[in-house]
Amino acid sequence: MPGRHGGMSHPVFAYMYSRFAPGAERLGAANHREELLSGASGRVLEVGAGTGLNFRHYGNAVAGVMAVEPEPHMREAAIQASLNASVRVAVVGGLDSRLPVADATFDVAVASLMLCSVPDQRVALAEMYRALRLGGELRFYEHVQANERTLASIQRAVDTFWPYVGAGCHTSRDTLKVIEQSGFVIQSVRRFRFQPCLMCVPVSPHIIGVALKV
Ligand SMILES: C[S@@+](CC[C@H](N)C(=O)[O-])C[C@H]1O[C@@H](n2cnc3c(N)ncnc32)[C@H](O)[C@@H]1O
Repeated sequence: MPGRHGGMSHPVFAYMYSRFAPGAERLGAANHREELLSGASGRVLEVGAGTGLNFRHYGNAVAGVMAVEPEPHMREAAIQASLNASVRVAVVGGLDSRLPVADATFDVAVASLMLCSVPDQRVALAEMYRALRLGGELRFYEHVQANERTLASIQRAVDTFWPYVGAGCHTSRDTLKVIEQSGFVIQSVRRFRFQPCLMCVPVSPHIIGVALKV
């Protein structure tokens, strides 16, 4: 649903996410975020920042974070989270397809559990590429298409309805491949399974890593 500030409104999803997230953080997501952002430095652009769950994991080497979040309820929660962050975080509205930033102005771009939900991954990644300086890092933490054939076909079946209940979330995207096709060079990637709930089987294959704009 389109909204003001080039946004969208998914109040039910925003509510469910805020109820579900604390459990997932305790079961391992918080550790994944720590790994995702470990060693990040300079100016950071986080796209689809959600409720701001990454904010407390930014270290002192980060000069500041611009967090773009189109969904108004999640953005409000992100603004609250930014008040407790140890680095300066500016939360703004905006969409992945037209980030409100100048070319080559960031050292790090963060994609965390959002490339599953954007309408077109290539468009989102092209915008993040544009925003990064040469040598800048894309740090990604995403659930992705399974390597195992059976789970991959379950994911494809699930994707006939999952995006309708999950605010656009797809389970069967080959995100790592699209990151590479978008011009980034993968510097590190770790594949793992993370299943914080019974229903989470289709979104259990994850990747976490760093890719460079070269
Ligand atoms: C599952 S939530 C993840 C939130 C957060 N990044 C995290 O790690 O907890 C997916 C996020 O992607 C955002 N999103 C979906 N479509 C988007 C778009 N077109 N542009 C920017 N963000 C988008 C949603 O608003 C939501 O915040």
